[in-house]
Amino acid sequence: MKKVLLPIAVLSLAVSFGSLANEGEAIFKSNSCVGCHTVDSQLVGPALSAVAERYADDENAVETLADHIKNGSQGRWGSAMPMGPNAVTEEEATSLAQWIVTL
Ligand code: HEC
Repeated sequence: MKKVLLPIAVLSLAVSFGSLANEGEAIFKSNSCVGCHTVDSQLVGPALSAVAERYADDENAVETLADHIKNGSQGRWGSAMPMGPNAVTEEEATSLAQWIVTL
């Protein structure tokens, strides 16, 4: 029985992670984020793919990025301009962070 259940558990985990990531992308596109960020190139803020690269070895990347998305970030990317707090819920910030680390 265990042999059957394990792949099912792994599969459903992968599916729910995938849909969370898609949710993050949808929130990004419908939010003011797009005024300052793109996936591939620097705009006002860093390219999100560059953020993913910088945090690739950080096991707390999702928590850290969700915190910075919600509360703002300053002085990490050599930009004169800080990112102020964004009007997102904690859940939205987490979905965004989960999507960003996949880029
Ligand atoms: C007014 C412009 C602006 C908006 C709107 C904005 N950002 Fe940013 N963002 C920035 C700037 C500038 C930085 C670099 C800040 C720094 O140097 O620490 C940044 C940094 C980041 C980082 C990297 C943080 C880190 O820890 O390295 C992430 C992730 C991010 N933004 C995601 C988002 C998301 C998601 C949204 C929408 C909910 C958003 N940003 C909205 C300007 C913006």
